[in-house]
Amino acid sequence: MNVESKQIEETGLLIENMYHQSGMKILFLVSSLLLMPFANSQTPDEYSFSVPFGSRKEYSFSVPVGSGKGTSYAIQGSGRITGIRVWENYNGHITGIQLRYGYMWSEMAGYARGNVQEMLLYENEVIVQVAGKYTHNIQSLVFSTNMSRSLSAGQPSGHSFNMYPHTKKAELRFISGRQQNGITSIGAHWGVFTDHKNPQSLH
Ligand SMILES: *[C@@H]1O[C@H](CO)[C@@H](O)[C@H](O)[C@H]1NC(C)=O
Repeated sequence: MNVESKQIEETGLLIENMYHQSGMKILFLVSSLLLMPFANSQTPDEYSFSVPFGSRKEYSFSVPVGSGKGTSYAIQGSGRITGIRVWENYNGHITGIQLRYGYMWSEMAGYARGNVQEMLLYENEVIVQVAGKYTHNIQSLVFSTNMSRSLSAGQPSGHSFNMYPHTKKAELRFISGRQQNGITSIGAHWGVFTDHKNPQSLH
């Protein structure tokens, strides 16, 4: 290889690197612009996540409660939440949570251990409140809908919490938190469901 072609090759690499880097910057800029209106000043980096499409209108975040030990989870899916399952172990705390989006059950947060409670939502029924009690783990959970129905699981002991959206129009879109032999924290993400491109996923 002569000097000239080596230089050309190096220049090519350099341009490719620059292109790559600027591409990343543009991508980063775009994603931060997209997320900016939905950023919550109370959100610590530890709880950073990307808000999926169809969840961004009137988005608000209820900051996680609990010790937050262990690894993080985020339950998200496409379409509207149509069902919920919560597992509780025999001496009290919440061990696992699963949400159904459209006809699909999500991956689990935590483990399918102990008793399971399940609630399927009706058409146009949405979750508007997540309450419960926590110590080290989430001890109990109550998911309430706008048809005045609720699912409750676990043993109520410890500190109370109560989460709901910032606007009346919003509904529960997804949850996130941490898990370690059970759910050690839970936070709630609220928004107005807007996926008009995919109406069959509503229910
Ligand atoms: C519950 O919320 C959904 C979605 O916003 C709405 O379509 C429905 O009318 C509400 N139902 C009641 C009983 O408020």
